[in-house]
Amino acid sequence: MTTDTTAPAKRSHAIIGCGRVAPNHVDGFGQLSGWSVDVACDRDPAVARFAAAHGIPRWTQSVRDVLEDPSVGSVSIAVDHAQHGPLVRQALQAGKHVLVEKPICLDRREARELVAFAADRGLVLSTVAQHRYDPLVLALRSWVREGLLGDLVYVTASLQARRTNEYYTGSYWRGRRTGEGGSALINQGYHCLDAIRWICGDLTVRDAMASARFLGDALETEDTIVGLLQAADVPVTLHVTVAGRVDWRTRLEVVGGDGTAVIDLDHPGTLHHCAGSADLLRRAELERARSHEETAPGIDYYGISHRRQIADFGRAVSTGAAMMVPAAAAADTLDTVLDLYDQAYASRVPAAC
Ligand SMILES: NC(=O)c1ccc[n+]([C@@H]2O[C@H](COP(=O)([O-])OP(=O)(O)OC[C@H]3O[C@@H](n4cnc5c(N)ncnc54)[C@H](O)[C@@H]3O)[C@@H](O)[C@H]2O)c1
Repeated sequence: MTTDTTAPAKRSHAIIGCGRVAPNHVDGFGQLSGWSVDVACDRDPAVARFAAAHGIPRWTQSVRDVLEDPSVGSVSIAVDHAQHGPLVRQALQAGKHVLVEKPICLDRREARELVAFAADRGLVLSTVAQHRYDPLVLALRSWVREGLLGDLVYVTASLQARRTNEYYTGSYWRGRRTGEGGSALINQGYHCLDAIRWICGDLTVRDAMASARFLGDALETEDTIVGLLQAADVPVTLHVTVAGRVDWRTRLEVVGGDGTAVIDLDHPGTLHHCAGSADLLRRAELERARSHEETAPGIDYYGISHRRQIADFGRAVSTGAAMMVPAAAAADTLDTVLDLYDQAYASRVPAAC
């Protein structure tokens, strides 16, 4: 028997932070040909169980072990929001390509610095924004850009989710200004806002209101936020709550002079409603026929597109091609999140109301 010594070595990836979202990273990188997830890193000793459960050969409780390992070429960072900025910087300094969960970090200036830092070093930096890769979101974006809906009248996005006091009190970081940097918006509502940015372009915040009337005993941030924004001259409303009665429902409604489309980000294969010209309806039928229903690899409402973004990340690392979503997009979305908070916290309804 001979061994093929010409076979190229696999690209070695490590996952830092092995909590709720980490299985989506294991799944996505596991699907990339020529890649392998070789190291699981979490400061919690349960990382050993995580590694065993996911067939990851090595585990460590130390980020340093990962960053000092020359065989590791790239890392996923999936820890609390407050550590994103410092860990992204350390990983880039160590020469690793980085896929960091959203948000990129908690500070606007730091976000721009990280994007520039990665570019200067020729490293790929990407922040997870998986819904930008949902086929239906991409279709809707094309319809808007091609004018199939006509001039936009308004856009509205909403997230209703249900979180309990225990969800916050049982976490070392959620619901804390220093750990999460906000709550309902920067964590759960982030995806709605990011998808609107992707579909409609730059957003300007006009007004916002936040409150913590329902979960205020457990969090120091907001359980609900409503924002009024503008995309060019189109009014945009955003409604986000984690104090709802349904587990998770995300809806995007784009109303134009010539057509309307309604989609749910949590069911990225379903075009909920579409009305308009024959051309639009034909395109909508094509989307419906091209069934996008796939089995989500992790918690179902995280959706199906970590895989797609990870495939794009893998291509960028392997070939040097630009990713579909540039690194700066995450800094733009962070700006809008922070603009909403600036407005909202000035007008926050006290928990005692
Ligand atoms: N894209 C999505 O749909 C999606 C879904 C869920 C979470 N997220 C994001 O993923 C990130 C993580 O969220 P989660 O729900 O998995 O959190 P989690 O609390 O379940 O997991 C975080 C893990 O990081 C570990 N950790 C913290 N600091 C560490 C360090 N310095 N070194 C090693 N390990 C460390 C913790 O021990 C914990 O196991 C957040 O940014 C969150 O917003 C994104």
